[in-house]
Amino acid sequence: MIDTTDYLVLGSGISGLTLAIKLAETFPDRKITIITKAHADESNTKYAQGGIAVVVDQTQDHFDQHIQDTFICGDGLCDAKVVQRVVHQGPERLKELMEWGTRFDKTTDGILDLGQEGGHSNKRVVHYQDQTGWEIQRALLEKVSQTSNIILRDHYFALDFILHQNQCLGVWVLNEKKHKIIGIHAHFTILATGGIGQMYEQTTNPMVATADGLAMAIRAGAKLAELEFIQFHPTALYHPTAENTFLISEAVRGYGAQLKNHQGNRFMFDYDSRGELASRDIVSRAIQTELAASQQPCVYLDCTHFDPDDLKQKFPTIYQNCLIHGIDATRDWIPVKPAQHYMCGGIVVNQNGQTSIEKLLACGECSRTGLHGANRLASNSLLEALVYSEAIYQYLRQQKMEPIHCDEHIFPLIVSDATMLFQEIQFLKKQLQKLMQQNVGIVRKNAHLLTSQTQVMLWLKQVNHWELSYGINKNLVELKNMLTTAWSIIEHSIQRTNNCGAFYKIDDRS
Ligand code: SIN
Repeated sequence: MIDTTDYLVLGSGISGLTLAIKLAETFPDRKITIITKAHADESNTKYAQGGIAVVVDQTQDHFDQHIQDTFICGDGLCDAKVVQRVVHQGPERLKELMEWGTRFDKTTDGILDLGQEGGHSNKRVVHYQDQTGWEIQRALLEKVSQTSNIILRDHYFALDFILHQNQCLGVWVLNEKKHKIIGIHAHFTILATGGIGQMYEQTTNPMVATADGLAMAIRAGAKLAELEFIQFHPTALYHPTAENTFLISEAVRGYGAQLKNHQGNRFMFDYDSRGELASRDIVSRAIQTELAASQQPCVYLDCTHFDPDDLKQKFPTIYQNCLIHGIDATRDWIPVKPAQHYMCGGIVVNQNGQTSIEKLLACGECSRTGLHGANRLASNSLLEALVYSEAIYQYLRQQKMEPIHCDEHIFPLIVSDATMLFQEIQFLKKQLQKLMQQNVGIVRKNAHLLTSQTQVMLWLKQVNHWELSYGINKNLVELKNMLTTAWSIIEHSIQRTNNCGAFYKIDDRS
């Protein structure tokens, strides 16, 4: 079965939703379809705690300072034009979000309350308590529900692009509710599929972050870059038996929380003059060094000097989540350790968000714009998502809608039962997570990368064999996507010979 739409957006996070809203408002006669593989509100955006980095008042802050902070954090690999553009557009994009009903915290004087995070030389993070992403997602989904020419399909899992001579004509999709595969033809397809976190044992990302868009792009032969720059967030809650890793926002350190080792020593100033507010790569490596030396499972974040009411009011979600795990952050140190958080590289896009495949565009975490370089500055990701969905919108509104000619009407694989090979898939996924955590983490070694790559290829062959023998289901394709992307991350890590930003490789003999 083949469906058609004018614009097909993959993913229901901040990038996909803002783009769909703009297209729908400009072209009320055109059909915009958003597909998302789980519930519409399930995306990395929803879990963003910190906020959006924006220079809101040029008498207190300056664009040049934000630009410089982004460069320092990116360790020399940021694209100057891109950084300028993204930073300068901040206020306009923020205004748009507010006009669409997104709430941000204000001070008693009625001005935006600005938080501070690592790598920023000034307070410039606009936020809604410690659940900024949740609030953005809420406002955008509400707006989408009021827009009649946006069709939002949940539990639609994109499998692969429909390609014709380096042109993307749409996507093959597994409709999970109806248990069948359909094709969706589109004049333009936009990838906004987010990150990769689930390929690591410890990640701040939700279950949906399985590298789907990246893997589809790899299979289609799109250009990707800088996949080796995997950002680890320094402070994820450490709890030996918790199933999911919960983020303790960098905004807590921005508010004055101190990192201490098990002996109670505040160690960050031994590593960087910015202390707890050094960039994430530096703080994560420092914690890793402390843990290796002490053989302890975690370090601690101390907020006990905060006013207890302030802590509960500014960071209600973090306070409650700690309580659930038996930690009262007003009195106890919070046990923390680094966890995978963000993919800094991705599918290469130009200033319009165009990929190397015609009629395929990308924005958000799956894309590589040149903003982040070797390490993303805190709270620059939501900003980048907004600026590039605007860029794609501006590009698409100028484009003609040409007829779609496509002879391909059948997806080559069948659908299997959702429970097919469940145990085997879960087992392999855990093996992959362990391998990525140990060998493709904060500190890497060439010898380990090489053996890991061979192993990943063997697992990929196994998965391909299962697909051909039994057919596909979501779990199996997610595993294939993670293996496909893991292989490329490892390849990029082997190829890089100099350490910078979030990439750190030590000699095989050390
Ligand atoms: C955080 O709140 O620490 C995460 C924000 C980000 O990833 O930019």
